[in-house]
Amino acid sequence: MRKLIAGNWKMNGLRADGLALARALVARAAAGDPPDCALAICPPTTLLLPIADTLRGSGIALGAQDCHPEVKGAHTGDISATMLKDAGCSYVIVGHSERRADHGETDALVRAKAAAAHTAGLVPILCVGETLAERDAGETLSVVRRQFEGSVPEDLKASEIAIAYEPVWAIGTGRTATTAQVAEVHASIRELLEARVRDGADVPILYGGSVKPSNAIELLGVANVDGALVGGASLNAADFWAIAQACP
Ligand code: PGA
Repeated sequence: MRKLIAGNWKMNGLRADGLALARALVARAAAGDPPDCALAICPPTTLLLPIADTLRGSGIALGAQDCHPEVKGAHTGDISATMLKDAGCSYVIVGHSERRADHGETDALVRAKAAAAHTAGLVPILCVGETLAERDAGETLSVVRRQFEGSVPEDLKASEIAIAYEPVWAIGTGRTATTAQVAEVHASIRELLEARVRDGADVPILYGGSVKPSNAIELLGVANVDGALVGGASLNAADFWAIAQACP
């Protein structure tokens, strides 16, 4: 399957630097020799509308970093999936470990957000992953299974969801999981997908956690790694592009 490289900008980017970064990516896409993968960037909400304009016609898709499970209503400060679709998004990250930790998001809430994203016509990039304590306790596969079963909606087709495996201890730390660790968890997620999603073999499973140009070829070459969710390195156009070009 064609791999997906998605940039998660997190809470980074004011208008000037965010737009400059988006324009730099568009310029690379237009310059020929495009990478053989699908590309998406997920800027902060304040930049979605101007960046939607910047990306138009470039082949680079737009995503958001979170959505509310309801379509509209009395939820001060929240943004619905319908609003994100209206702003030009195709994707939305749900269940990122930073939201699970900072905002106490439960599997049930993540599932409701993923379902809302689907209803709005967005593809949720649904994140799962264990903490270091859970890995050290030998609980990685059971934690990922519990998150998966609690947060992935039923009745979706393969084209309607992506999963991101992001070990919490590898996010923003410079530590990446070994290829053996990634292969084990991705194989387990593939089994779960085949049991839950129609054509589960075709659902992209992204790896995330300190993906960089220097480790992208190795990570993207692991079985069942269908792309990457890139945080820090997605804030640099050259690095993000080099990761995309590492797609085999
Ligand atoms: P990182 O973040 O690449 O900076 O580790 C990845 C993520 O949290 O999505």
